[in-house]
Amino acid sequence: MDGNGRWAKKRLLPRVAGHKAGVEAVRTIVRAAGDMGLEALTLYAFSSENWKRPEEEISDLMGLMKRFILSDLDEFAANDVKLKVIGNWRALAPDVVALIDNALERTAGNKRTTLAVALNYGAQDELVRAATAAAAEGAITAEAIEAHLDTVGMPPLDLLIRTSGEVRLSNFLLWQSAYAELYFTDQLWPDFKPADLQAALDQFARRERRYGGL
Ligand code: FPP
Repeated sequence: MDGNGRWAKKRLLPRVAGHKAGVEAVRTIVRAAGDMGLEALTLYAFSSENWKRPEEEISDLMGLMKRFILSDLDEFAANDVKLKVIGNWRALAPDVVALIDNALERTAGNKRTTLAVALNYGAQDELVRAATAAAAEGAITAEAIEAHLDTVGMPPLDLLIRTSGEVRLSNFLLWQSAYAELYFTDQLWPDFKPADLQAALDQFARRERRYGGL
């Protein structure tokens, strides 16, 4: 969900205004994803590298996250959205962890769309944790690693979208993206609308996926 800062800068607003607009985009896109029949959507909300940002911005982001979970729990229930959180989120502040625990429990029975939020997430960290857990059980095989990824239980990653014109993966779902289709758009995240998601899906539908075969 890249580009919140630039969205705010273009309007001479503080960065937090961009993140607030980013949360509005999250709401709209989660609703649209359900309506479009997407089984799962993973949003990169806070990376394990985002701790390098100024303290004030980190605190703004955590505040927005807490408010989002609190205010949107009823909406998740109404839209049959199951929440999942990936990353090292248990290391976050106790109030955030408690809120997440409650939200996970309250949405556990929902079935239409899984909304996975990546929080304190880094794919390399996820892989180290998964490989360590696999090694503790025996041989390190691809299946054993998969079984210990944070995304276990989710469908395979089909399409990875990055907004704001950056063309890199930035430590996001590195294992899962092995055969994912990549889609890059110049749209800043707060400007990313359901029609943009549809355009990405339309392009995805035209791609030929060979998984290494002919
Ligand atoms: C990247 O834009 C965005 C983030 C690091 C934060 C994303 C978080 C939210 C949208 C809010 C909370 C999330 C949820 C799921 C409610 P940037 O700040 O790097 O933008 P820039 O590259 O333009 O500076």
